[in-house]
Parts: sequence; structure tokens; C-alpha cells
Amino acid sequence: MDYRVRSLAGAASGASKIDWAGTEMPVLKGIAERFAHEQPLAGVRISACLHVTAETANLMLTLAAGGAQIRLCASNPLSTQDDVAAALVAEHGIPVFAAHGETTLEYYADIDAALAHHPHITLDDGADLIAVLHTKRSDLLADVVGGLEETTTGVVRLRAMARDGMLRYPVIAVNDAMSQHLFDNRYGTGQSTLDGIMRATNILLAGKVFTIAGYGWCGRGIAMRARGMGARVLVTEVDPLRALEAVMDGFEVLPMDHAAPLSDIIVTATGQRDVVTSEHFAIAKNGCILANAGHFNLEISLPALEALASGKSRPRPNLEEYVLRDGRRLRLLAQGRLVNLAAAEGHPAAVMDMSFANQALCVEFLGAKGPKLEARVHEVPIEIDQQVARLKLAAMAVGIDVLTADQVAYATSWISGT
Ligand code: NAI
Repeated sequence: MDYRVRSLAGAASGASKIDWAGTEMPVLKGIAERFAHEQPLAGVRISACLHVTAETANLMLTLAAGGAQIRLCASNPLSTQDDVAAALVAEHGIPVFAAHGETTLEYYADIDAALAHHPHITLDDGADLIAVLHTKRSDLLADVVGGLEETTTGVVRLRAMARDGMLRYPVIAVNDAMSQHLFDNRYGTGQSTLDGIMRATNILLAGKVFTIAGYGWCGRGIAMRARGMGARVLVTEVDPLRALEAVMDGFEVLPMDHAAPLSDIIVTATGQRDVVTSEHFAIAKNGCILANAGHFNLEISLPALEALASGKSRPRPNLEEYVLRDGRRLRLLAQGRLVNLAAAEGHPAAVMDMSFANQALCVEFLGAKGPKLEARVHEVPIEIDQQVARLKLAAMAVGIDVLTADQVAYATSWISGT
């Protein structure tokens, strides 16, 4: 079997991590059992570019149970769990092309390898694989019936491709399902970003001034959890509605050039570039910790930081300390890459259960309906979104009420008033 992983030695530990994550993914497990029985993906070739984690492994096993042939590569050079990659190859026979800490060249060679079996369906987290497919490997486009995109930044890129008339097949924006972003982006990124910061630094959050740039779905989760740990949380925004929401949620909102001198920690989660840059480094508090939870490593301007620094050391894994010419020290976590995946283990499995249940059901939907869909970005069908929420509630043994016939009639009528 064709594959590229760091080593197969860690396969046993990876297999145990995959099993452990699986215990928190009951919705996906239920789908895997149905897939094994019905084989809805028999003969379907899938190329997946996702964070190679224990949770993703459970998605791969679900798709394989449904009959799919899969090739998996990483969607970030620092998020691969090498033992999980080894277990997928050695214990489950799924070709993986990923190694933690790979170079940009290796990253793109792995995408090429994942595409080599001429996919029918593509899975992306950040739209790197689909971008390669539409540029360097457009010869493969004829076989593709559809794709899925997992994250906000990827959806933004795909909408730009569609607007420019470049998108050649239908893609479902899994990120935009409510059963995904209300939970994954908010609670998953919220908890795991703090986990990454704490693992990288072991600092006490209580009493710290913690600035979060971007009060979107990720940012509000991070802000909420940082406040819960006793930090004084500041928010920066560019959108007046989101800023107002942050104010009314009780956070102090201010521009970054006011926040930088006050902050012990600055975290970016905007999907935008150069949010923290030389003007902010120039006034940042001595010892300030800089971390990013947005998809790409360009939210904290690394070239500007390198240019301002007179020296750099690595006191802990995932922590680089830059000494500026005036003697101040700025501490960058995980090279400015997704701190929750690079310095911790990414989202907890219980939340990926919903995101990946959406992925599995949307792959099934694409297998059946893909050839009939227009080449643009599509919403997750509402039936799938609600089904995922219903299955999750059932797995949590939470019951809800059902509208009576009278209530349904009331909700669809204009007759009743004051
Ligand atoms: P979102 O669109 O809901 O929120 C982004 C927010 O940032 C918006 O409110 C926007 O107004 C604000 N913003 C944009 N430029 C800004 C600037 N210069 N200064 C301050 N605020 C600014 O997006 P969401 O879902 O919160 O995602 C944010 C990023 O996180 C994306 O890159 C997404 O792909 C990524 N992401 C990362 C995850 C992880 O595991 N770390 C998980 C999910 C998403």
C-alpha cells in the first residue's frame, strides 16, 4: 500500500487514541453501523485533506465502513498526530500521507498523493486540496461529483472561487451547518485553544489580561472560556454588529492598538491576515504571549516579528521567545499556527462527533445527488443538520417536546393576532 507517515512504530498507541475518541462519538458510530450494513459508498473514491487526528480517523473508518476507498493527507503541517496516522495505515489499511512538522514542499506532495487515485468526492479543511485540484491537477476534475469544506476560511475561499467563475463542482459548506459551527467553532475551539495555550506555557489564566481578536464563532467561544478561567477579557473587532454583541456579552471592546499594551495574552481568531503586526509589537507589553486559532498562520505577522527581533530562543516546545531591540520579550506559540491543534489535540471528540456526522451524511448525500447539483457552494441540507442535532440529543439522553397539531397550525397561520 502506498503511504507516507513518520513511522509505523506508534500504531498501537494511535489505535488506542482512535478507540478512545470513538467512545465520545456515538452519533458517528451509529452512522458507521448503518453504513456497514447499507454500503452507500461502495466504489466511491474519496480524497480527504483534514487534520490527521483521532477524531478524523473515526470519520475515515465510518466512510470506509460504507464502502469508500479513501486517501488522507493533512490540512496543516503541525496538526498531524503521527501515531494516529500510523494506526490508520497499519491497523486499518487506509493510505495516509502526512507527518507532523512536514515542510511546505512535503505538504503539497502529500496533497498530490492523496489525489492520485482520481477522487469522486473531496473533503477539505481550508480548501488547499480543492485549490490544487482546480489548478495543477485540473485533469482530475472530470471524475469529481462534489466536495465538502469543513472550516470558515475554506468556505470564504470557495465562495471567492465561485464568484470568479472558477469553481468546477458543487461543494457543501459543512462549516455553515448549525450543528457544526454553533458547537465546533464555539465550544470546540473555545476549550481547545485554552488547552493549547496552557500546555505550551503552563501559565495561570486567572488575573491575566486576555485579548481575543475576532468575536465570531471561534472568538466568542475563546472569550467565554477565558473569562471562565478568571482572565480579564478584551475583544477587538471590525464588524460593528459583532462588536456590539461582545459589548452586550459584557466584554470590553477596543482597537488592537489600545489592547496591545494592556495584554498578557493576545489570541487571533479572525480568518484575516496581519491582525497583529509591527505597530502592535512595537507597543506590546513585555512578556506578552501571542497565539493564533484562525486557520492560516498569517493572522500574527511573522515576517514583521522576525524583522523587529534581535534574537530568539525556544524555552519550551511550541513556544518561541523573541527578544526585541528594546529588550522586551514576545512569546509566540506554535509558530503562529492553529494553537489548539499544534500545541494540544484539537477539538474534543464529543464536538467533532457532530461536525463529522455532518461530513459522513453529506458524503452520502453527494454520492446520491452530487451529479445533479450546480457547481457552487451549497448549504448542508436542513434535514441533515436537524438529524445530527436529534441524534446527538438522543445520545445524550436529552428529550425535547414536540409541537402539537394546533401549534403547527398556529405557526403556519396569519389569522390569530391580539
Ligand atoms: P467568523 O467569520 O464567525 O468570525 C471571524 C470574526 O473576525 C468576524 O466577526 C470578523 O468581523 C472578525 N474580524 C475579521 N477581521 C478582523 C480584524 N482585522 N480584527 C478583528 N476582528 C476581525 O469565523 P469563525 O468561524 O470564528 O472562524 C475564524 C477562523 O478560525 C477561520 O479562519 C476559521 O477557518 C478558523 N477555525 C479554526 C478552528 C480551530 O480549530 N482552531 C475551528 C474552526 C474555525
